[in-house]
Amino acid sequence: MLPQRIAVVGTGYVGLTTGACLASLGHDVTCADVDEAKVERLRRGRTDVLEPGLADLVADGLAAGRLRFLVDLAEAAGEAEVLFLCLPTPSGRDGAADLTAVESVVHELRRVLRPRAVLVCKSTVPVGTATRLAALVGRDDVAVVSNPEFLREGTAVADFLRPDRIVVGSDVPAAADRVASLYAALDAPVVRTDARSAEMVKYAANCFLAMKLSYVNTLGELCERLGADLAAVTEGMGLDRRIGPGFLRPGPGWGGSCLPKDAAAMVRMAALAGVEFGLLRAAVEANQRHRGRVVAKVRAAVGGSLAGVRVGVLGLTFKAGTSDLRDSPAVEVVRLLCEEGAEVVAHDPVVSPELAGVVVVDDPYLAAKQAEALVVLTEWPQFRAIDWALVVRVMTGRTVVDPRNHLDPESLARAGLVWLGTGRAVRG
Ligand code: UGA
Repeated sequence: MLPQRIAVVGTGYVGLTTGACLASLGHDVTCADVDEAKVERLRRGRTDVLEPGLADLVADGLAAGRLRFLVDLAEAAGEAEVLFLCLPTPSGRDGAADLTAVESVVHELRRVLRPRAVLVCKSTVPVGTATRLAALVGRDDVAVVSNPEFLREGTAVADFLRPDRIVVGSDVPAAADRVASLYAALDAPVVRTDARSAEMVKYAANCFLAMKLSYVNTLGELCERLGADLAAVTEGMGLDRRIGPGFLRPGPGWGGSCLPKDAAAMVRMAALAGVEFGLLRAAVEANQRHRGRVVAKVRAAVGGSLAGVRVGVLGLTFKAGTSDLRDSPAVEVVRLLCEEGAEVVAHDPVVSPELAGVVVVDDPYLAAKQAEALVVLTEWPQFRAIDWALVVRVMTGRTVVDPRNHLDPESLARAGLVWLGTGRAVRG
């Protein structure tokens, strides 16, 4: 495959990862973003997102002259043979994906795209969007391809370079071939299909994962009532190759910038198409309930009322390995605790005080100090190394609520703490 001249519009974690990884595969990549200050930082090799390996790839790309950053969309597009759209598609008021950013960029691009350019949509967009974008471009020589991303925050570079699959869909097969060829150096199955199916794969995968987690968290609830052990249950399920061992860990509900938004968009997209997606709707409702269940455990542990009660919280980001607080179940649990009058003191290894709306301290023992209960909401590995004997000395209460089953119950028990995980019969 010949190296291609590529433009990437949007330098969020998806756009920047895509640009830096494509440059590392030998392509000549120009990334465009409207945020001048960010572009300036990127030119100096400074990345804002906490993404292992990304800063190194950006530095390598800049040094090799294969990666450039600029603000001018027309300049970036003017040279590009293939142009990737990596723009946000947030939830609109009715849950549907808001395509404003994508459409306004495409509107700007239609006159500046070079002849026979390929426009690739990486953003998660409703089924049928590629067709709409092709109409918006309105040029016979420019094809639109859907090439959804499956990058997890925190492992985006590894997910890009060692993907489970690459999905490329277009109603113009030659354009899809060109996009597939960009990834020729990667060892991954390629699913070649039409644009609508490619767009659907992304929603189908994220929503399936969301349903899997709501299922696990509900099983956890049931295990607690019936005296079964969720860890053994998920191990027993996961060994069935049809189910698989991944995405079976319980927690305070699923969150982040993708799963909740995509589930809402899928429910809305289905309703507009005349399909009531009750299964997915139930998973969304269960997810809200599971956040409330964490609060209920804390409330019960402190004697039935949270009013005026000091609660320590460990972890605020939506999962470990990221600094992202968007749609974080931890933040929602904190909000619910505060709503009931709790005095929350939180600690997160990557969240600074000015980022969160609660008291954030830079030491886990300070969060535990005088707390009547402690809640661990994000699975940061360092929380496993906490000195629980010290925690017991500084806490007022004895209960540690651990919805992700992240801690070692034995160590807590040895220190005299009562551990409350998910899907274990209540003890202590
Ligand atoms: C998700 C998908 O996993 C990616 O494949 C997709 O590309 C991305 O969205 C996207 O649409 O861009 P991400 O949002 O980074 O990636 O987060 P995940 O690692 O999937 O976690 C989502 C939520 O599920 C988190 O709140 C996490 O704590 C929770 N989770 C995950 C569990 O509670 N248990 C698990 O076993 C796994």
